[in-house]
Amino acid sequence: MTQPGRSAPVLELERVTLELGDRTILRDTGFVVNQGEFIGVLGPNGAGKTTLMRAVLGLVPAAQGAIRVLGQPVERGNSSIGYMPQTRSALAGRRVRGRDFVAMAADGHRWGLPHADAATRADVERVLDLVGGRKLAERPLSELSGGERQRLLLAQCLLGNPKLLLLDEPLISLDPHHQKSVVELVRRVQQELGIAVLFSAHELNPLLHALDRVLYLGSGVAALGTVDEVITRPVLSRLYGSPIDVMRVNGRIFVMSGDVEVEKHDHEHEHDEHGGHSHSHSHSHSHSHSHGHAHGHSDQHDSRDGHKHDV
Ligand SMILES: Nc1ncnc2c1ncn2[C@@H]1O[C@H](COP(=O)(O)OP(=O)(O)O)[C@@H](O)[C@H]1O
Ligand SMILES: [Mg+2]
Repeated sequence: MTQPGRSAPVLELERVTLELGDRTILRDTGFVVNQGEFIGVLGPNGAGKTTLMRAVLGLVPAAQGAIRVLGQPVERGNSSIGYMPQTRSALAGRRVRGRDFVAMAADGHRWGLPHADAATRADVERVLDLVGGRKLAERPLSELSGGERQRLLLAQCLLGNPKLLLLDEPLISLDPHHQKSVVELVRRVQQELGIAVLFSAHELNPLLHALDRVLYLGSGVAALGTVDEVITRPVLSRLYGSPIDVMRVNGRIFVMSGDVEVEKHDHEHEHDEHGGHSHSHSHSHSHSHSHGHAHGHSDQHDSRDGHKHDV
């Protein structure tokens, strides 16, 4: 599917099957993401958005098929990928200064201030500039709003000049105003750098004006295309495994099952990072990333359980 004269696609899946335990998350799926595309990754809770990103990072091996990033088979620690994992709530309590937090991701220090070399320091300033975060970076994380922390998390993902960003639910727990600014920021940076972004979300509407194409997951299958191609009654009915209606009202799109709005309904229980829901302690063992070094290219923030509640 590569066009003549162009470099390899950023991401290719070829007949990929992903399994977790005895569950098939994705079955015999293929698609291609090109350079410079902003892809909104949607689908009901549990559809496999996080699993797909982890597979692209090489953290979940494909049971069958091939995943390629920039023409190469997936590998752990691929520096051409920047990753923002879904679970981030522990950051809110950290006193670490924003700039040091970003720098930690650059050289992977777990604790203490990193002794970065000149190139790393320059890269930190570059990514802070990209996200308009230099001033924010003077303050400790604990004094920043959720939207401001997202800015620094995005800066971390941009260290080392990745060509593909995997942003797992960056809008979760943000109010609509901050959601809008995060989407606009990601879109601006993505276009400025000409990189590809996979941006997962519960809801399509906040992404509508930013995305180039939608990757919609459900029932073990995936549909990639424009909004008009994918957000349709036949495609979504297949993905949800039940009859779905699509309603367009004032430039917004509502995905309905009977009189229930499925995207909303599905995620009603998982909003707000500061509480409302008690976080089950059975999850806490997996929060190896809770020290805040959520740098883009490693599996140290590998957290699978817990992400449904600990947002
Ligand atoms: N270790 C595991 N074994 C079996 N199933 C799992 C495991 N981890 C997650 N799952 C299931 O895999 C499915 C896909 O999860 P996930 O990728 O997190 O979906 P999403 O990010 O779209 O909500 C979910 O149904 C989840 O419960
Ligand atoms: Mg997820």
